[in-house]
Amino acid sequence: MASEDTQIRINGLSFDIEGKTLLHNTNLSLNGDGITVFLGANGAGKTIFLKLLTGLLTPCSGSITFEGGNISIKTRAFVSQEPVILRRTVLKNMLFVLEKITSEKSTLAKELLSLMGLDTKEHQNALTLSAGEKQRLCLARAIITDPEILLLDEPTANIEPNSTTLIEKYLIQKVRSSRKIFFVTHDINQARRLADEIVFIHTGRVIEHSSAKNFFENPKTREARKYISGKIN
Ligand SMILES: Nc1ncnc2c1ncn2[C@@H]1O[C@H](COP(=O)(O)OP(=O)(O)O)[C@@H](O)[C@H]1O
Ligand SMILES: [Mg+2]
Repeated sequence: MASEDTQIRINGLSFDIEGKTLLHNTNLSLNGDGITVFLGANGAGKTIFLKLLTGLLTPCSGSITFEGGNISIKTRAFVSQEPVILRRTVLKNMLFVLEKITSEKSTLAKELLSLMGLDTKEHQNALTLSAGEKQRLCLARAIITDPEILLLDEPTANIEPNSTTLIEKYLIQKVRSSRKIFFVTHDINQARRLADEIVFIHTGRVIEHSSAKNFFENPKTREARKYISGKIN
């Protein structure tokens, strides 16, 4: 479990592709607990950053280390903006990601589906779920792997408001206290609802990093002030 004294240190991290720098030399120390929101406009570099943190992309330079706590870099689960659904039932989607299916895990799978409002859909072909239901399944499937770090890339960008509310409540009430969450969004209101700390990204650079309270009450850069006032999205 993530703990208060854990720090996630990012040293000199950068990512280039085809001669273009998509993430510029980044140095940050992030909280090992709570919800860190990566906020920024479309194309700012949020997904690139999150994929570097997940290990789905390898940085061109720099490192990510976990210090001072018992968090392990290995137990991470990533949920992307587009739900990735396997061609099988809802329940079998849950069980597929487990190394070993035990009766305990089967019970947990059903509990998680119930929390995500999918208990009546266990035996439905998951490909026939609505967009919001698919994303709720993806979140439940990520949680059943028991990750210390949950990385969510705009998980509610393409889904209906009811599913968004359900996911946000679940993260705040049930997940936040026991797992580190990285949450990417371009939605300033969602950032206000979820964030403990904000990393504000603008054209491939982290230009602000502070507690959510400080960020919203006292943004330091012109770009963040404009973003907060709704002039960029
Ligand atoms: N594989 C790639 N090749 C070239 N450019 C890319 C690649 N992936 C992302 N980009 C560019 O990098 C920038 C940041 O992308 P991304 O991290 O996806 O932004 P967002 O903040 O919207 O998640 C964008 O301008 C995007 O077009
Ligand atoms: Mg993105």
